[in-house]
This record gives sequence, C-alpha cells and structure tokens, in this order.
Amino acid sequence: MSTRTPLTRFLIEAERAGQINAELRLLIEVVARACKGISYAISKGALGGVLGDAGASNVQGEAQKKLDVLSNEILLEANAWGGHLAGIASEEMDEPHPIPDVYPKGNFLLLFDPLDGSSNIDVNVSVGTIFSVLRCPDGVTEPKTAHFLQPGTAQVAAGYTVYGPSTVLVLTVGHGTHVFTLDRETGSFILTQRGVRIPEDTQEYAINASNARHWDAPVKRYVDDLVAGRTGPRGKDFNTRWIASMVADVHRIMSRGGIFLYPVDAKCRDKGGRLRLMYEANPMAFLVEQAGGAASTGHQRMLEVQPAGLHQRVPVVLGSKNEVAVFERYMREG
Ligand code: F6P
Repeated sequence: MSTRTPLTRFLIEAERAGQINAELRLLIEVVARACKGISYAISKGALGGVLGDAGASNVQGEAQKKLDVLSNEILLEANAWGGHLAGIASEEMDEPHPIPDVYPKGNFLLLFDPLDGSSNIDVNVSVGTIFSVLRCPDGVTEPKTAHFLQPGTAQVAAGYTVYGPSTVLVLTVGHGTHVFTLDRETGSFILTQRGVRIPEDTQEYAINASNARHWDAPVKRYVDDLVAGRTGPRGKDFNTRWIASMVADVHRIMSRGGIFLYPVDAKCRDKGGRLRLMYEANPMAFLVEQAGGAASTGHQRMLEVQPAGLHQRVPVVLGSKNEVAVFERYMREG
C-alpha cells in the first residue's frame, strides 16, 4: 500500500484536526489545481507559444508578459465559481476582482502574485506563484480594498509554488510549513517534507548588489561586514546567492537557511520599497515564521505592519532567525 500523502489527504486530515474548515480546504485545493495549470503552461516554453510580452502594463507600471496574464487568468477562472471566496486581489489588477453574481460567495479573501520573478519568465529560470488567504469581515458580501487591508497576522493560509526543475508547493495553515512536490505522472501534489525548519544561523545571503550605491548606511555596513568574511567583524565567510525570483530565493532558504534582503534604498524610497506587502512579503513572512525563521521590515515584524494600500511596497528581510536579528541590530545602530 502506498504511504504517499497527496495534498487532498493532507488537507482532509487538517480539517479533521480542526485546523481548517471545508471551505478553506476547497480554496487551497482550487489554488493548487490552478498552479498545476500554470506549471504545465510554463513547462511548454516556446513550444506552447506562451513566451514574450503581452503588450500591456499592470497597475505597477510593469510590462506584462504573456505568462503573467495567462497565470492571472488561470487563477481567476479557477477561483470564481467554487463558492469559497468573497473576493480576489492580484498584483496584476488595480482593484479587487468581484466574484461574479451568478456564483455563490464564500467567507475568504484570496490575494496573489500570479507569476513572481518577472525578469526570469522568458529565460527558463525558476518563477512561481505566491498567495495569501484572509477572512472576509463579517457581514461584507462585496469586499472593497479596505476589507483586504488586514495585517499579516490575520492570514489563515499562505503558500507559494516554484516552477523549477520540479514544481513544489509550500503551504501553511498556521500549523507549520509543509512542502509538496508535483508528481507529473499522477498530477498530484505529494507531501515531501512535513514541518520545515529553517536553520537559525547561516553563511549565505541574497541581495541585489547592483543597488549598493543606493543603499542606506546600515545596509551598506551590514553587507560590507558579510563580504569581509573571516577576517572582518563577523568572523566567518559568507556566500552570495541571488536568483531574482523571490520564490526561488525563499525556497533555497526554506531548504538550507539563509537571509534574503530587499531593503528600501534611494532608488525605491518614494515607493516604500521594492516588494509588495499583501501578496509577496506577508505570505512569505507567515511561511518563514511557521518554519522557525523570522521576517521583518528591518525595524518591525512584517506580519504586524498595518497595510495602507493593496499594492503597498515594503522593505523585506527574512530567513534564518539569528541572522535577521543581526541585520535588525545594524539598522537600530544606524
Ligand atoms: O516581484 C518582484 C521580484 O521579481 C522578486 O521576485 C525578486 O526577488 C525581485 O523582484 C528581483 O528584483 P531585481 O530585479 O532588483 O533583481
């Protein structure tokens, strides 16, 4: 008899344990099914006619790729009719997307970045989907932006997929962080790691060093000290890794530890940072904390930031707990 645990079984067991209800189980299954569709589309590459620009820009003013648009449509279509959602928000849409009136409404709000890692989309490097689930406030049937603006601590589930050499789904419903790998022969996500633990210490860091001249003094001092290695104040050598797909960089940290930084700098100060709070930083922070790591703005726990806008940007530092604490100390010291 097979001892494999497909996602469906994992979720049914989580429901029996009182960790999620049937509606949230359905929601996660639907998102996972949509991600499978995105995974298959991406894996066809040039043969699927899915590479290249879509010829439009999103709300962030970024040029959309065909795969951005396709991934957004796959997620929207899959989630419209199940009756588990009150509303949807996406990186690719200015305003929340209402559930069509012909379908029943549910109690949850879904936020996603349909395809993270835009610069890697057409070059066969790992990209992914990030999602966050919130409860719709009681009595609200047509949620507006304000109803989505809940701090990360209010998330009831979060996850990401990486479309890499294998497709993985990393999920939390607030009881640990778990990894599922897509079995392409059966089409099922199979549990391959229960209860991820991120090592508390690390010698690996991820930052886009081409921004060095724009960094604030504490960020520069911190990175200089990492680069100084064994003979510097940190007394050990560090290694750099930067994939430029947050999903892939975070997944490496889930797998073997590390610290990921996208600080606010002179280049992005007017926007508040580079990465988006609601559908990038918060879900990743929830997953990282549930795996024993830490996630912060450099000054404050990420999950406690009170959002002011759906597409708000924030500085992000996350990963191995002790290293995040070291970075926060540099920030405090100025
Ligand atoms: O969505 C933002 C994103 O693509 C992340 O996935 C990634 O970590 C970052 O931007 C890459 O930034 P940069 O282009 O500065 O390397």
